[in-house]
Amino acid sequence: MKLFQITVIAAAATLASPWSLAQGQPPLKVGLMLPATGTFAALGTAIENGFKLYVDQQGGKLGGRSIEYVKVDDESDPSKATDNINKLIKRDNVDVVVGTVHSGVAMAMAKVAKDTGTLMIDPNAGADAITGPMCAVNIFRSSFSNWQPGYAMGEVMAKKGHKKVITITWKYAAGAESVNGFTEAFKKGGGTVLKDLTVPFPSVEFQALLTEIAAAKPDAVYTFFAGGGAVKFVKDYAAAGLKGNIPLYGAGFLTDGTLEAQGATADGLQTALHYGDGLNTPRDNAFRLAYAKAYKLQPDVYAVQGYDAAQILGIGLAATKGDVSKQKEFAAAVGKSKIDSPRGAFMLSKAHNPIQDMYLREVKDKENKIVGIAAKSLSDPARGCKM
Ligand code: PHB
Repeated sequence: MKLFQITVIAAAATLASPWSLAQGQPPLKVGLMLPATGTFAALGTAIENGFKLYVDQQGGKLGGRSIEYVKVDDESDPSKATDNINKLIKRDNVDVVVGTVHSGVAMAMAKVAKDTGTLMIDPNAGADAITGPMCAVNIFRSSFSNWQPGYAMGEVMAKKGHKKVITITWKYAAGAESVNGFTEAFKKGGGTVLKDLTVPFPSVEFQALLTEIAAAKPDAVYTFFAGGGAVKFVKDYAAAGLKGNIPLYGAGFLTDGTLEAQGATADGLQTALHYGDGLNTPRDNAFRLAYAKAYKLQPDVYAVQGYDAAQILGIGLAATKGDVSKQKEFAAAVGKSKIDSPRGAFMLSKAHNPIQDMYLREVKDKENKIVGIAAKSLSDPARGCKM
């Protein structure tokens, strides 16, 4: 009799559980794991702004559930990444983790997300492995793979007739993979890489390497730097007398969200990226207006990626009526949807990475003016992804 009573009570509790009802579900907890300090701090802010803008535009709800945020500053420090994401998942009980900027941190996050089955949306970090060997039904990326802008720029630089190039970047996954993508396309186009130069992340001590570049006199330089490091690199390149003598190209992060600080030293730089200024589409214009109104700032690529991370979450939650545990249904809905991004609509590959145009941009009057398409509908090869 006692046992029967307990069973009945348990069943009643299940029926009454707000989780079983489309209406009245508890808020969905979004763990924002982003950098709030260090060289990528501004990037983290733009991602958060973009994400919240989309949620606000939906009346604060996705898939019928109101959204609650739990935030952690990941400091772009891979050694703290596993602890940080575990706190979000185990202590704060988040339903989804959105993060991050730094590839090394994001790889640690993806490992935990995969092991625990937690939904993860990567709104920036390009680590190839996340949509390569680590790909999973519950892991999505709204940004790019490091291979993509690198490969696009390699094609462009080979077509421009550059033959001998030096690369320079931070010594960590994103830098190495960006250079790998570049090198793959540049060699295919007949070019040679004379030397790959690196500084440790997040060092901005470029002087010795700029002296080496000046002495080697390559046809051009390819680089990956971002955030505060990109500001310093572009200024140092000009101060070393290299600007105007040895053309500098890069993945578009070199000049995105950085132009106010770089000023005229960035003028004329050409980069490849999946966003830029002057798209002048109704979608992008509306996004820019809304972003400027909400934050008194112009959006950049990071803001777009944050906005699209929220769109991906919204699509998945709409299909599962707010239930993140229905991973297959969530992934199927996202997989067949066109994400209506300010960058231009895109779909995700089977590995959950955007298939997207890489624009060729040139800096003029503190804008990354789109001057062409560097690579059309470029899909990351997703090497090693079994899904
Ligand atoms: C990365 O670590 O993957 C990364 C960081 C900053 C960027 C782009 C990629 O702007």
